[in-house]
Amino acid sequence: MDCVRIGNVEVRGRLVLAPLADINKPSFRLLCKEKGAALVYTEMINAEGVVRGGSRSLDLARTLSAERPVSVQLFGSRAGTMSKAAAEIEKRADIIDINAGCYVHRVTKQGAGCALMKNPQGIGDIVREVVGAVKTPVTVKIRLGPSRKNRNYLEVAKIAESAGASAIALHARSGDTGFGGAADWSAIREIKEAVSVPVIGNGDVRTPQDCARMLEETGCDLVMIGRAALGNPHVFEQCSRFIESGELLPAQTASERMKDLRRLFELHEKYDRPSTHNDVVFMRQHAMMFTTGLEGGVVARTRLSNADDRNGILKEFSSLLSRTVR
Ligand SMILES: Cc1cc2nc3c(=O)[nH]c(=O)nc-3n(C[C@H](O)[C@H](O)[C@H](O)COP(=O)(O)O)c2cc1C
Repeated sequence: MDCVRIGNVEVRGRLVLAPLADINKPSFRLLCKEKGAALVYTEMINAEGVVRGGSRSLDLARTLSAERPVSVQLFGSRAGTMSKAAAEIEKRADIIDINAGCYVHRVTKQGAGCALMKNPQGIGDIVREVVGAVKTPVTVKIRLGPSRKNRNYLEVAKIAESAGASAIALHARSGDTGFGGAADWSAIREIKEAVSVPVIGNGDVRTPQDCARMLEETGCDLVMIGRAALGNPHVFEQCSRFIESGELLPAQTASERMKDLRRLFELHEKYDRPSTHNDVVFMRQHAMMFTTGLEGGVVARTRLSNADDRNGILKEFSSLLSRTVR
């Protein structure tokens, strides 16, 4: 099995679960790990919240030994706050990742996320200060640039590396495009050629073939998968099998999906410490995503949105069992 070193952390395998806000609870991360993700990220966590000791932020930074190595992602705009937050959560993290790629307004309006890319030296200052505050490796997740007119990924990647970053992840779109257009993988290759730390390629990997193609075309060390894992952690099994042996596993049947959903619920109950309300919201949300690609999924999603407990959710899901994934 391939092994990539991020600082002193060994990542055994080539697949990474992307940071996904509101999705990446410990249960989901563990399931993706069981399916073949070699490294998992938490969702982005507000550094200010961590420094204030906010219970929500600290809960989001809760990690489990079973999911290691795990990268805890922070967002913020001030080097001092980011480094304090990093020191606070260091014990829970194998890697601390700095979010310089989020395009959502509530994040960029505070100068955080992709807005950091408007000031490459500022990213250097944040990385330097965070690296100085912790022993764990520090990585940065960037986009192509803050806008299509300012694609400064090479400059930012080089500055981050000189400031001490142990890996660079690139979501190969600019901040102003959100999720529009196709990811430009050629930029991943350019970064790979420009820095000597590992590069994590990200954007539009949906299938095992995409995954193999990204590795081959860009030379990246690790492939990060986001949306394709929503409702389908099996994508990690398909991708890892394909890049290791060339075998193409079939899409899941509805009963295989249901087995994964049950496993997710089991891990959820064990590890997510849910409140009763969040519990149902979480289970419904994931059950709805798990119907994606299943025949009858549209009807099932409507019914699932009205189910109000675990048994109701599983009952609605099981109505899909006679059908198969398209
Ligand atoms: C629901 C959702 C939540 C996301 N949350 C985060 C986040 O917390 N931090 C981050 O850096 N990127 C976040 N992203 C972006 C993903 O990590 C990833 O860069 C993007 O989805 C592109 O990869 P993909 O084409 O494999 O989905 C999020 C994306 C989605 C769809």
